[in-house]
Amino acid sequence: MGTVDLSVYRKDFPMLDGKTMNGHPLVYFDNAATTLKPRKVIDTVLKYYEEETTNVERGDSALSALVSAKYENVRKIIAKFIGCDPEEVVYTSGATGALNLLAEGYGMKFLSEGNVILTTEEEHASNLLPWFRVCERTGAKMRYIPLTEEGRVTEENVRSSMDEHVKIVTLAGVSNVLGYEAPLKGIADIAHEYGAVFAVDGAQAVPHFELNMKEMGIDFLSFSSHKMCGPSGAGVLYGRKELLEKMDPANLGGGSNARFDRYGKIILREVPDKFEAGTQPIEGILGMGAAAEYLMEIGMDKIHAYEKELRDYLVKRMEELPNVKVYNPDAETGIVTFNVEGVFPQDAGSYLSSRGIALRSGQHCAKILPDFLKVPGTVRASLYFYNTKEECDTLIEALKTCTVENAVDIFI
Ligand code: ALA
Repeated sequence: MGTVDLSVYRKDFPMLDGKTMNGHPLVYFDNAATTLKPRKVIDTVLKYYEEETTNVERGDSALSALVSAKYENVRKIIAKFIGCDPEEVVYTSGATGALNLLAEGYGMKFLSEGNVILTTEEEHASNLLPWFRVCERTGAKMRYIPLTEEGRVTEENVRSSMDEHVKIVTLAGVSNVLGYEAPLKGIADIAHEYGAVFAVDGAQAVPHFELNMKEMGIDFLSFSSHKMCGPSGAGVLYGRKELLEKMDPANLGGGSNARFDRYGKIILREVPDKFEAGTQPIEGILGMGAAAEYLMEIGMDKIHAYEKELRDYLVKRMEELPNVKVYNPDAETGIVTFNVEGVFPQDAGSYLSSRGIALRSGQHCAKILPDFLKVPGTVRASLYFYNTKEECDTLIEALKTCTVENAVDIFI
């Protein structure tokens, strides 16, 4: 397709090898929810189960030493992937786990009455609910950056929302509903001018374009392995080292302490180990490393360019359909959010499923955003580099017959 052709990578994904849904070839357009897994990732996980099962960083066996080295090497791979130092990579259960750790370990410790957490109304629940709880317990307050009419966060609007009370600016690098990229470098500079830390929910950004923590000045970044071709159950909280050192862990237990005594005196291990109590999802972390390597081999710039071209093609074709309204025609990423006239979003989703197309409809966990969009919900097609123009054409053909009558017919 067009300038960059990534269709050669489809062969790496077993789910793209002839799988059908409801009697039609599967068109997988639900990549913002989770991505498909390439053979390299699947083989990495299988190898752990079939040949290398052991706990890590606890055993004295050669097997444990071997897998521990691989497990620690993933920190180096992720550090290269996001432009930071390996000890700044904390393993978590995913973006939600990372955001909860940040709220618990940093927000709960350093915020108090009179402080402000600056965010947006388009955040995913995972980047709002933990902060609501911080506010409830510390007396800090949430403040929302006004969005443009389109739904974007701009540097101007961040600046106009800042004052000396703002201690944390936290927002999605890419909205999981509207797919807009936030101007992260500029926002980091503004946050720092006011002495605030800048935390990015990178769940929908990290899988799609290159982010460099050091160059961009981001203080915290959270993301999930399963949205970037890796296994579910694993993810990362990146934190600038001096901030991680000051932060409290959310969990305590084995692996995170250097020693403790019967009187409750606990000496925690150094960063990042102090955050990783208990056995982590070892196979998930190994698979996450394989996924990051796989994406870097393809090239994040190519992935970004291809997705943009593909989404522009899909939007152009959707705009030819009189019954479809697209809410984010100019977004930079593969998320295309729309409604079909007169058809409830979930009914449209079920109808499209009956035609072999997997996508998501409803509020997409961003439950304040529908008030802004003034619709109860939307349908979301989210593309990734292994999707094709032909699959977009399949969606267009299905949308032509997505009427209230047809959508209801599939239930009776
Ligand atoms: N956060 C994921 C989504 O937006 C599940 O679909």
